[in-house]
Amino acid sequence: MTFEPDDLREAGRSLLDDAVELRRELHRHPELGLELPRTQQAVLDRLADLDLDVRTGTTSTSVVADLVGDPDGPIVLLRGDMDALPMPEDTELPFASEVRNTMHACGHDTHTAMLVGAARLLADRRSELAGTVRFMFQPGEEGQFGARHMIDEGVLDGVGRAFGIHVTPNLPAGWVGTRPGPLLASADEFAITVRGRGGHASTPHFANDPIPVACEIVSALQTFVTRRVDVFAPGVISVTKVRAGTANNVIPETALLEGTVRAVSGRTRAAALEALERVATNVAAAHDMVAEVTLHDGYPVTVNDAGRAAGTIETATRLLGADRVIELPSPVMGAEDFSYVLEEVPGAMAFLGMCPPGANPGAAPPNHSNRMLIDEAPMADGMALHAAMALTGLAELVAGAGAADEASAS
Ligand code: NI
Repeated sequence: MTFEPDDLREAGRSLLDDAVELRRELHRHPELGLELPRTQQAVLDRLADLDLDVRTGTTSTSVVADLVGDPDGPIVLLRGDMDALPMPEDTELPFASEVRNTMHACGHDTHTAMLVGAARLLADRRSELAGTVRFMFQPGEEGQFGARHMIDEGVLDGVGRAFGIHVTPNLPAGWVGTRPGPLLASADEFAITVRGRGGHASTPHFANDPIPVACEIVSALQTFVTRRVDVFAPGVISVTKVRAGTANNVIPETALLEGTVRAVSGRTRAAALEALERVATNVAAAHDMVAEVTLHDGYPVTVNDAGRAAGTIETATRLLGADRVIELPSPVMGAEDFSYVLEEVPGAMAFLGMCPPGANPGAAPPNHSNRMLIDEAPMADGMALHAAMALTGLAELVAGAGAADEASAS
């Protein structure tokens, strides 16, 4: 028995008011990117009385806090990201953002507050810890590679297992959902400049018009997705920006295409990135033009370890009951830099439902919406789940090490 479900749920509930208070403070004062001084200070202040080993980042405002139980035991990592998005907020909440064009629209304010609460919850149970719980407070998740900064600074050193929660208004409040294998997609960006030859619109044969060629590239990319990608390892190429021309009677010199590539397998991701280059340059070449392709690598596919995903479902079921835990039928096409953690350490990420009261989970404004609302009550479950995952993870790692010792002794 690694944890008492009633005890942890009750502990989560007792910490809810503090978590809500911190979440609303962060929501009111959101910060962007890798430098979140105010958020970092709020976290440090809340952890100050817990007797943790705390380190702050040198290349970002990250916080790593170790709660040491058995100092000779394994390490389990729990992660919460802290950054907001560059967008206006239109929720009309009394604690809506006071920072222009900046909003906690991905729930990272709740992630931070839940991780602080989990630290307190577990600090009260230090004697039960068969090792160390490491709390990873991460900036720069929204495209700034914050996890990479922390990994380069050693956050995964000695870590045997990792767990993260992402909240969503599109699951019923208090539900937990995850799956083995890919949970979130990769996300890369591209830009293609088609270079023709400008001229008078009345005499295209004296010019070389890049606009129809750019259109042909858009179609050819869709043909690649539907005809060359394995339907069981899907991918998406979306051209989201087309720019060319200045006047009705002028053929422009260049046409620009920009967009994003998403995939739920590394294989499809690599094939799609390779195809972008090949399709664009060859379609352009067919028309005696040049296409310059620029790729910006984004986050890789977030892949849950199969065993750890099953373990998450088992632990969440013990904690919350089977009627609140689901195995998701398919990945979500958003991206996460927790992917980098899961590339190096076996672990899992789970979604925690926070659909607001009275709303339909299928229709509630989603993460990244300017109108995103959440039900804060499930934060109690989130704190308890963090704690349950840490206690279970440590116990299993100790048991695994014991079994390995026996095997090598016999
Ligand atoms: Ni997020």
